Order: sequence, then structure tokens, then C-alpha cells
Amino acid sequence: MLRKLFIETVGCQMNVLDSELVVGSLRRLGYQIVDDPRQADLILYNTCSVRQHAEDKIYSALGTLRRHKQRRPETIIGVIGCMAQKDQELIRRRAPHVDLICGPGQLARIPELLAEIERSGSPQIAVSLGRAEASRHEVEDSFESYDPLREPSMRPNTFQAYVRTQFGCDKFCTYCIVPSVRGPEQCRHPHQILAEVRQLADQGCKEVTLVGQTVNSYRFEYGDGRVSRLSDLLYLLHDVPGIHRIKFVTNFPRDMTDDLLDAVAGLPKVSRYLHVPAQSGCNEVLKRMKRLYTVEFYRDMLERCRERVLGVAISSDFIVGFCGETDASFQRTCDLVAEAGFKNSFIFKYSPRPGTKADELYPDDVPEDVKRRRNNDLLAIQNRVSLREHRSWIGRTVEVLVEGPSKKFDIQSEGEGLPQLTGRTDTDHIVVLDGPLSWTGRFLQVRVVDASAFTLFGEVCEADSDSVSPCVGETEGKVRSNRIPLPLV
Ligand code: SAH
Ligand code: SF4
Ligand code: F3S
Repeated sequence: MLRKLFIETVGCQMNVLDSELVVGSLRRLGYQIVDDPRQADLILYNTCSVRQHAEDKIYSALGTLRRHKQRRPETIIGVIGCMAQKDQELIRRRAPHVDLICGPGQLARIPELLAEIERSGSPQIAVSLGRAEASRHEVEDSFESYDPLREPSMRPNTFQAYVRTQFGCDKFCTYCIVPSVRGPEQCRHPHQILAEVRQLADQGCKEVTLVGQTVNSYRFEYGDGRVSRLSDLLYLLHDVPGIHRIKFVTNFPRDMTDDLLDAVAGLPKVSRYLHVPAQSGCNEVLKRMKRLYTVEFYRDMLERCRERVLGVAISSDFIVGFCGETDASFQRTCDLVAEAGFKNSFIFKYSPRPGTKADELYPDDVPEDVKRRRNNDLLAIQNRVSLREHRSWIGRTVEVLVEGPSKKFDIQSEGEGLPQLTGRTDTDHIVVLDGPLSWTGRFLQVRVVDASAFTLFGEVCEADSDSVSPCVGETEGKVRSNRIPLPLV
């Protein structure tokens, strides 16, 4: 029976990947995606709890569906992902019209839970154990990483894919909810990851992005005591025919070891791009955040990255207005951003998360208007740095994987000259260029002619689209929603 599915995803790359896999399993049950929740038989929100704002968005979307559910009670409404794990009771109270609540460690059960809702008409809840509720082993078992076989038709495009290396996080930064909602860190077997990447390559995938909350903490111990780390995994995946680019996100500064940097430097397919969030430039704040490093360590690490991986681009995340952040501590963060030469930084206002150590131990004592001002000030500094960094590329030739039409491109204007395309370099710089849609999914040599703080503007080295080089493997030029979305949080 053909049924209609609406799904909205917020949160990090992990959630984007989970949604792809859930959609895959539902397609096999006969569901077809629709863009309007009111047309759907099944409405799913794949949620994020990292900041209050992400949760508010979901409650507001659920609120607008209350009437709809009264009019069409047969519609199934589901909340899946991190918020479902964190707040199953609260969701039931605030949105009693929700039928399905399913945490990120239980996604494999969705088809069975839907069948039960249809059979019994009663809501179904599936969440994993809390981290203090049982032994580590039992908690691990209750968070099952959902990694079914991949199918190309499930992805936004055929030539890029996320691949999970590990599930969960063990770092317990005091502000962060992720270790509670995603559970203990569990690394996948290297051969399982290799098999998935091979399968993706056979399906026409050219770029894989390895995803883990702290991907460079990856550590798999075989039965005989041998250990594989992220560097070993990169060597293993590098030989997969068809894969031309390998990225990995996100990195923890303390785990940026030399063997990893040497792998990045030595393996041509591995992207020279490192996302290594600093969070703050002040040692007292870093200590309260329990980040396990000092700003001096972080600066040395940056230097090591740049010495070992020539031409590497580095990006960061910062939290402003964390508990006890004074003007002087904020100034230290500004100094770090002014000097570190990040390609870009994601900057967030501290959002207290009930259940975290910071929320328990420290008052949220930086007023909202100060957080906002610090956010803007830090962004302004980063933008100046980004502009300088981006302008340094002008005149150089870069290899770009074309991802599809840029946001500015309007399908109506097709036929009135070449559309504007967007893609990324191996250093993760966004490049905008003019060219036919059929270049989507191709690697092109592009000369950078201009730059803004966020974008490089390029021209393809050869004007004739048929002779553009090097062009590895042709795609059928299929243009769907052909972009892996940026983190939405
Ligand atoms: N696993 C990744 C990112 C986790 S969440 C890592 O460790 O780097 C993405 C970003 O959200 C974090 O890097 C941090 O900057 C921000 N963040 C996490 N918790 C937050 C909170 N309570 N308030 C504001 N920002 C937060
Ligand atoms: Fe959260 Fe820290 Fe783990 Fe990142 S490393 S997910 S910020 S606890
Ligand atoms: Fe990701 Fe948000 Fe969950 S950042 S792990 S979706 S809390």
C-alpha cells in the first residue's frame, strides 16, 4: 500500500544520516516522501537537543499539528532522535497527540513500532537506558547503532555520503547533552565501515564523509589486542576504487595525534580540512567546560596541524556566554579567533541543558543581551579573518566537486545563460561558478577569481564542458535535492 511520509530533520550530520536510513527502511514499506506534513500519513521529526532553540522549533511544529491530528486522527506523528531520548515524558505531556517516540539508539525498531500503533491505536515509546541507569555494557547494548545497507536512491545525491565510524560520546564536556542522548562511545568494526564504503563506491559514490561526535577518538580493539585508529581507517579506505575524496568530522583537539595528521598529509584522497572545535580561548572557561586542554595546548595543536599538513584549512566552534565567562575571558577567545586563521567558525550562545554537569554546578550568569553582543562581536572578528583567508586563494587553481545549483539559481531562469553552481574544494571551501547542471557530481579544475568571507568565486579552467578535466567518472547529471545539508543547529 502506498503511504505518504513527511520528515523534518534538525541537528548534526549524525541526524542527517539517521534520517536517510530511516527513510530507506520506510520506503521499503511502501512510503513515499511528501513536502507538506498535512498530506502525509506519517509525520516524523528527527530532533536535536543540543540547544534549547532546536527543541523549541520542534514543540512549535508539533503545536501546529494538534488540530490536524484531531481532524485526521489516523495520521501518525512521531518524534525520533535526541529529544525523544531525553524528554519522552515531557513530549507526552506537551504534545499528547504524538504517537511515536523513538530515541537514536532504537531507530531499527521504527517499522515494528508503526505496525503496533496501527494495530493497537496506542502510542509507542522506545528509548535506550540512561547512562547512570545500568552498567556500561548494558547501556551500550541499549544504544544500537542503526547502520543498514545503503541504497543510492535514499541519499540527496548519489555521489556523496556520510558514513558512521562511531556512535555516542564519552567526553562529557559539562555543557553538552550529547553523551546522555547518544550514549557511550561505540566504534564500528573497520571491516564493516570498509564494506559500507565499498558498497557506496559501487553505487557511484565519490566522496565519503566519516562522521562521529569525536571522530578522531575512533579506536577499535580486535579480539587479539590489535587496535585500529582513525589513521588506520583512512589507509584502509583510501584504496577503495571509485572513492576520490574522504572527509571526517568532528575532531577533538586532544586526540589530534601525529599519526592522524601524517595520514591526512600522505593520502591524496583525504581532504586537507580539519574541523577542531576550540569552544573558548580562556583556560578558566575551558576548565569549567571540562574540555581537557588549555588554550596553549590548542595553539600548539594548530601549529602541529599546519606544520604536518601543508595547506590545511581549519575550522572551529565556539560557545559564548558560558557560565562565569567574564569580559576578560571573552577577550581571550577574541584573541584566539583573531590569531588562529580559521577558515570559518560556528559560534553559539550558551544554552543550559538540564541534566548536564554545567547546569547542575554553575549558574547561567551571562545575561542574554551580553551573549548576543559577544556572539556578534566574535562573528565580526571571524568574518574579517575568513575574508582574508578566502582572498588568499584568489589566482590559485583548485579541484572542486560540484554539488549542484547554488541557492540563488532559480529553475525558472534555466535557458537564460548558464546557471550558478556550487561545490567544495578538498579544503572544504565553498566555490560558486557558472556552468551547466550536468557538471553536478563532477570534479573540476577551477581558477579562483574572487572571494567573499564565505565563498570563493571560480571559473572552470577549460570553457568547453565536454573537455573539462580531470573528470573522474561520469554521472548521469541527475539533479535532485543534490546537497548534503550543513549542520542545521
Ligand atoms: N561532537 C562535536 C559537536 C557537538 S555539538 C564536538 O565535540 O565537536 C556541536 C556544537 O554545539 C559544539 O561544538 C558546541 O560548540 C555547541 N554546543 C554544544 N552544547 C551546547 C550548549 N549547551 N549551548 C550552546 N552550544 C552548545
Ligand atoms: Fe559534546 Fe564534548 Fe562530546 Fe562534543 S566532545 S559531543 S561537545 S561532550
Ligand atoms: Fe546531534 Fe543534536 Fe543529537 S547535535 S547528536 S542531533 S543533540
